[in-house]
Amino acid sequence: MSSLVVLLLTAIFASSGAVPSEVVVNDAVNVAVHSTVDLRSQLVHQKNVIALKNLGPADLNSYFFALNEPELRVIVFNNEHGRKLPFKKIEWDSNSSFYEVTLDEDVKQNEKYKLSCMITYANKITPAVKKRTFDEDQLVKFVGNVRFFSPYRTIFHHVEYLLHDPFLEVSKNATHLESTKITYIFYDTHTYAVDRVVIVLVKNDAFVVVKNIQRSIDVSHYGKIHVQDEVVIENNGVRLVGPFSGGKMKATTGWFYTHLPACTENIKFFDILGNNSKTQVYHFIDYITLKFNTRYPLLGGWKSSYVLSYDVPVHEYVLMDEEHYSLQMRALDYVLTDVVIESAVVKIKLPEGAQIKRVILPNSLTLENEGDGSNPDEQIIVLKGVNLFENYISNVTINYSFNPLYMLRVPLVISVLFEGAFLVVLVGKYFVL
Ligand SMILES: *[C@@H]1O[C@H](CO)[C@@H](O)[C@H](O)[C@H]1NC(C)=O
Ligand SMILES: *[C@@H]1O[C@H](CO)[C@@H](O)[C@H](O)[C@H]1NC(C)=O
Ligand SMILES: *[C@@H]1O[C@H](CO)[C@@H](O)[C@H](O)[C@H]1NC(C)=O
Ligand SMILES: *[C@@H]1O[C@H](CO)[C@@H](O)[C@H](O)[C@H]1NC(C)=O
Repeated sequence: MSSLVVLLLTAIFASSGAVPSEVVVNDAVNVAVHSTVDLRSQLVHQKNVIALKNLGPADLNSYFFALNEPELRVIVFNNEHGRKLPFKKIEWDSNSSFYEVTLDEDVKQNEKYKLSCMITYANKITPAVKKRTFDEDQLVKFVGNVRFFSPYRTIFHHVEYLLHDPFLEVSKNATHLESTKITYIFYDTHTYAVDRVVIVLVKNDAFVVVKNIQRSIDVSHYGKIHVQDEVVIENNGVRLVGPFSGGKMKATTGWFYTHLPACTENIKFFDILGNNSKTQVYHFIDYITLKFNTRYPLLGGWKSSYVLSYDVPVHEYVLMDEEHYSLQMRALDYVLTDVVIESAVVKIKLPEGAQIKRVILPNSLTLENEGDGSNPDEQIIVLKGVNLFENYISNVTINYSFNPLYMLRVPLVISVLFEGAFLVVLVGKYFVL
């Protein structure tokens, strides 16, 4: 008997098309899968704890996880002790992919292995209606596959949806129903099972997305790094229509929070109309929190923008060894909790006279060098990213060389000019006399 079972998909269960040829599914079974789907924030966090068993005679050293959800997502696999497992993504079609996860031990025949998979989805909770009036609740819906979609059979599957507020409607009868928890239990789920469930909820918070963030990091060896974020945000929630009824308004936009490094100084927050004083700064031991509000409430369908700027001391982020320098700081920092950043551009300007040696990029961003060329001594590095969420906060490292004498050049030029002028005056005086 062959140890490998090549799965030929039948059209009924597959989302479409044939499985990619690199996917040769090994012989295993999901003994038990416990899924928790957290619908309490704007991003959906799903955790699957999978106990599998090797059925084949050959040792099992990889596991195929399949997903047929088209939404943006970030996925991480861990072993039972929380250590990350490496994986390779194999595209199936526009909505589906396989993840070939490398197990950290060889699982013998009939032995079990436990792993977990954490998925964060963006855009999985969407407005359920097109518009609402000011005194109506915002209805949103979640659509997901309640079954465990897998190339392996699943003997037991327990799935729980966690809600913040009681739901309004659910399209499929649950095994257990509580006001803020919907539970389903399934026995013997076939491969590639799909059964969509729709949950309608009330969520009056703003559905904020960062349409665009332009960050500039200006490194000066005179003591400070100047950071400026120009942020365009939009409320992607249900569009508000009809007369404004201040008193009965259900829409809340609340305060926004962002976090800055503890060493931040000189914080400024403004928008196109100028100083926006609706801010408050809290100093904690490890960080600073800025609480702010946009000048006008960010109601459903509305856009707003703001500029946040601050300084951080250069010695916290630039390591120096003779003429070799290394800038290490977050390319993108915390923006807002649980939001998607649709587009980001980070411009890092090194001091005049710096020579870039090496750039180590964070995963989420790509190098898009620009260096406008107007000043050959000026070094600019441009990074770009799209559809970022979850683990977008990571360091960029730029190694460069810089001659400290360069810094003396500007004052030197000025003093030479002054001395020159003084001389001219003196000489002039001498000749006049
Ligand atoms: C992907 O999903 C969308 C929406 O669910 C559907 O309309 C489309 O046909 C799917 N595409 C494929 C290739 O299955
Ligand atoms: C849910 O259960 C009720 C009775 O308990 C039944 O009348 C109804 O048809 C079921 N709905 C679905 C979607 O299965
Ligand atoms: C903005 O306005 C507030 C209140 O009027 C004032 O306290 C603050 O200093 C101003 N900030 C700037 C940067 O002008
Ligand atoms: C990122 O950079 C900061 C500041 O230089 C440093 O303290 C931190 O250890 C770095 N983090 C990683 C993961 O390298």
